[in-house]
Amino acid sequence: MAKETLHLGQTLQFTGDPFAEGAEAARHDSAGAVLVADGTIRAVGAAATLRAAHPQAQVVDHGQALLTAGFVDAHVHYPQTRIIASWGKRLIDWLNSYTFPEEMRLADPAYARAVAGDYLDLVLAHGTTTVCSYATIHPGSVDAIFEAAEARGMRVLAGKTCMDRNAPEGLRDTARSAYDDSKALLERWHRRGRASYVITPRFSPTSTPEQLSALGALWAEHPDCLMQTHLSEQLDEIAWVRSLYPQARDYLDTYETHGLLGPNGLYGHAIHLEPRETDRLTEVGAALVHCPTSNTFIGSGLFDMAGLTARGLRVGLATDTGGGSSFSMLRTMAAAYEIGQLRGTPLHASQLIWLATQGSARALCLDDRIGNLAPGMEADFIALNLASTAAIAQRAAKAEDIWEALFATIMMGDDRAIAGTWVAGHKAAPARD
Ligand code: GUN
Ligand code: ZN
Repeated sequence: MAKETLHLGQTLQFTGDPFAEGAEAARHDSAGAVLVADGTIRAVGAAATLRAAHPQAQVVDHGQALLTAGFVDAHVHYPQTRIIASWGKRLIDWLNSYTFPEEMRLADPAYARAVAGDYLDLVLAHGTTTVCSYATIHPGSVDAIFEAAEARGMRVLAGKTCMDRNAPEGLRDTARSAYDDSKALLERWHRRGRASYVITPRFSPTSTPEQLSALGALWAEHPDCLMQTHLSEQLDEIAWVRSLYPQARDYLDTYETHGLLGPNGLYGHAIHLEPRETDRLTEVGAALVHCPTSNTFIGSGLFDMAGLTARGLRVGLATDTGGGSSFSMLRTMAAAYEIGQLRGTPLHASQLIWLATQGSARALCLDDRIGNLAPGMEADFIALNLASTAAIAQRAAKAEDIWEALFATIMMGDDRAIAGTWVAGHKAAPARD
């Protein structure tokens, strides 16, 4: 029989969507347990019941820590790790001043490997077990992130960022090479172990219509792949798209016309949407990704979480490293809460943690495998210390229920709140490579 490990602590699992069902969609057990074997969750229940049923299991007692699914970060740029928190620019200047010069450096495969490894160790320390990342235009940067993920056993999604205009010399491919390189990488990595390849045109301004069409054709040949891009992040960007694509009805239309709109499409930011765009995204069942620390840091605007989830759109949550100002999904949940406040629609703690786990997993079409504590799910989970600093501990001591206690950690917590991260049942430690 497979070796079983029984993790004891408080447990938090979801049986539904708190945007539809409220906090009733969550189940909290203050004396719970998670049974893990062969990298999979076998059971979640009361500690006493599971201990009695599995007397041979090795027991790991996490005390009062809250066991929950590992965080799922649905939109990141791992190549921007070294330029996170760069001052004073808005989107287009920020790309030209900070991002493109740094992305150029990933032409060197050794540099790409170093950044990929450091990045994944950082996110694991912050309790994130899955990311969906843009690489750079260099195929070696895609190999680097998937190899680093494989070494750590992580479920990671990534793709080669394609750009054939409005980017500097050295950071441009062509319609043909974008198709060929993406196809070769897809064939090498898609569904190899825990890897998923994601077709990745950066955004309409940096692709010619020919390149968007070539990637639309590749997606049509591999419809089970996700396709990720950016949509309506800043008003200047939208005006630029309008000038580059004068025939398009709106920004989303630049993707739709070239075969880049579908249920496996992931559209990052989606802040300044026209009613037609929201209708089309809803009709096709596409997913949006909210990147709150990025939206405030780059000065983009306030995502309409309440309105878009009420329409039934799938929404994931993301740091958008390094446009976002933190690697922490706790900090990201806090920023999502603050943006909700500015819109007059505050999110409940159950909605915030759901977005960071199940919601993101659902946006990535992986909610049958990750993002929840439930039998049959992959054993990617964390132990959250709900009293990780003096400031949080004194607030949590007055909490009347788990949501009040968790909310203090969401608003004030950081990597010190992550007592441990488990990937496919194994405790994560910085990899030696
Ligand atoms: N739009 C196109 N590329 C990027 C990027 O790297 N970061 C952000 N935040 N927006 C983008
Ligand atoms: Zn982005």
